[in-house]
Amino acid sequence: MAGRKGQGAVIPLRAAGHSLAGLGPVVAGAAYWLTLFSAYWVAVGLALLFFARRQRRDALSALLAAAVAWLLLRALAAILRLLIPCIAPDAEASFGFVLALALAYLLPLRLWQRLLCLGIVVAMAGSRILALGCRVPGELALALGAAALAAGLLWLLGRWPPARRLWQRAMLALDDWSSRSGRTALTPPLLAVLAARLRLHLGFVMEGVQPVGAAGVHASTPVVVSGRDAAGRATHYFVKIVTLTNWQASLGYELLEWLKRPGQPPEPLWLSVKTMVEYEHYMQLLFDDLGVAAPRPRGVYRLERQVYALVSDYLQGVQTLREVGRVGRGYVDAALQALRRLREADCVHGDIKASNLVVLPGERFSFVDLARAVYVAGGRRLAQDLADMLVVLSLHHDPEVVVERAGEIIGEQGLRQARSYLHRRRLNVETRQMMPLDLPRRLRDLIATRL
Ligand SMILES: Nc1ncnc2c1ncn2[C@@H]1O[C@H](COP(=O)(O)OP(=O)(O)O)[C@@H](O)[C@H]1O
Ligand SMILES: [Mg+2]
Repeated sequence: MAGRKGQGAVIPLRAAGHSLAGLGPVVAGAAYWLTLFSAYWVAVGLALLFFARRQRRDALSALLAAAVAWLLLRALAAILRLLIPCIAPDAEASFGFVLALALAYLLPLRLWQRLLCLGIVVAMAGSRILALGCRVPGELALALGAAALAAGLLWLLGRWPPARRLWQRAMLALDDWSSRSGRTALTPPLLAVLAARLRLHLGFVMEGVQPVGAAGVHASTPVVVSGRDAAGRATHYFVKIVTLTNWQASLGYELLEWLKRPGQPPEPLWLSVKTMVEYEHYMQLLFDDLGVAAPRPRGVYRLERQVYALVSDYLQGVQTLREVGRVGRGYVDAALQALRRLREADCVHGDIKASNLVVLPGERFSFVDLARAVYVAGGRRLAQDLADMLVVLSLHHDPEVVVERAGEIIGEQGLRQARSYLHRRRLNVETRQMMPLDLPRRLRDLIATRL
């Protein structure tokens, strides 16, 4: 028995070096499949099994998505290797080729950077074709030409305002859908733990829970809880329930943002759901301390494994700027004054958009969602914050007035620095989908005439 075992252990090694002939069909089959799938797949398979055993559905779906993307890229690389073997002679070369093209498309690069990457890839492939005298099949040349033509047409269509607006609407719908899919189920056990935490820490007796259905909500499941405080008075709290899925989405977003601005370390970068909620809680305390209008914090509580609740005072009569049409000059002034207060403390909100600025009764201003706020932020972040604020306010008030008030309240120097951030690709993603195409240029021109 021991001898057979020992023999079994050496056979695959020999099989890898020589031929599979003469081996038992099971071992030969295993060696064949291992070669076919390579070590990546064994690693992915093991990781999937690990997560499946732990029943972590979220991690499993993320891994599955990554595996599908990987499979797609490898399939494309295999097709390329079959069609033009002298450009991509082996699996690594063809995979690298396809990956370079995919990244040049996926990464949020500037147009010239994208074209430069494509140029390098095409030049390398072209010089190889010439040097080795490869023959490119006519069908492939035709397919590549058609793909390039389609990409060019799509790019031109994107410059045409009606098509652009249609695209913006589609992107907003996608954004709303993705924000709904990030919500967690408010199960009775979860709500029971929430009620127990609120009773223990705040002396609050929970009587009802109302989910907040606002658009543009990405990083949580927001709810309003109603009930009675220790003295028996009717009270409401705003509770942001944050789960592992929300953390993963935020991490992905942060990494993309970092890729957009290489050289600047990703901040805030949270290593777990817990640190992410605690960070926002800390920022709420800081804003409160600075006297900048934002929800007053009431605590962070663990509800379940990887599920936390961030509790703050409920803002009575709240509406997001996204829900409101035009606002008055008083609101514009209050928003800019709050921003000036933040700037004086070298602090930024970091995610200024119409669903994170709220309008309270009497057109009072308040920030919400401090998850991306940064303390000791530096000039670039301050300029970015102001640029986002100028565009958002200009969607709800006259751009001339907004720029004029910003000049008065923030100062000409701040405006000058924000000007270089007033470009579509540098603005907040939500704002980009809502604004008229020429708004950033208009704001840049208005600032230029002031300076
Ligand atoms: N303290 C509060 N009181 C009432 N409503 C709030 C409060 N804070 C946020 N909201 C509302 O809930 C929505 C989602 O909150 P937010 O903190 O932006 O979550 P997310 O990080 O998931 O985007 C906001 O757009 C706002 O409409
Ligand atoms: Mg938000």
